[in-house]
Amino acid sequence: MRPSIVLTILSSLPALLAIPQPAKPNSLSATESRSTKSYCPGHPAPESYQRQLFFAFINELYVQKNVIGAFNTYISINLTEHDPFDAQGRVANEDKLANIIPYVPSTVLRMSFDNNIGLAHVRVDEANEEPIALADIYRMDGTCIVEHWDVTQARPANATNSIAMF
Ligand SMILES: *[C@@H]1O[C@H](CO)[C@@H](O)[C@H](O)[C@H]1NC(C)=O
Ligand SMILES: *[C@@H]1O[C@H](CO)[C@@H](O)[C@H](O)[C@H]1NC(C)=O
Repeated sequence: MRPSIVLTILSSLPALLAIPQPAKPNSLSATESRSTKSYCPGHPAPESYQRQLFFAFINELYVQKNVIGAFNTYISINLTEHDPFDAQGRVANEDKLANIIPYVPSTVLRMSFDNNIGLAHVRVDEANEEPIALADIYRMDGTCIVEHWDVTQARPANATNSIAMF
């Protein structure tokens, strides 16, 4: 499956599953919904502390599935986003993902952090679909996550490798 198809599927998951939409984050007042404890703008920090923050972010995002909380706490308001179908900045991305991540089973398989770069390898299991492998790459500036790339690929139904992709 081509990445563009995977991304389209990911973007349309809520519609495909006919799942209820959560309350719009924008329905909360800006001061209430967007001003929790934050590690941004970043300040210099030892790598061990950056790693701790990055792992906490991934846990809150994919395990607790508290998208708005995770983004508000760890992501720069001026997030540089490289996903071909996403807008720039924290707010657009948290609003989009808040409508997807809580409704799709996901498993964090592994994560690492080194030299300002954090990596999370995530399995996304959508009902009646081949699982999707998601590689999230984030760059931190001190304590703050400032840049994101992702690569997604659905497992081919005719995969010949018994341990294909996971
Ligand atoms: C975000 O970008 C805007 C526009 O360039 C700038 O005015 C603002 O200072 C930036 N904020 C942070 C926290 O970097
Ligand atoms: C798997 O299926 C795809 C899509 O039909 C096809 O293009 C590809 O050649 C197949 N690969 C193998 C190894 O059968």
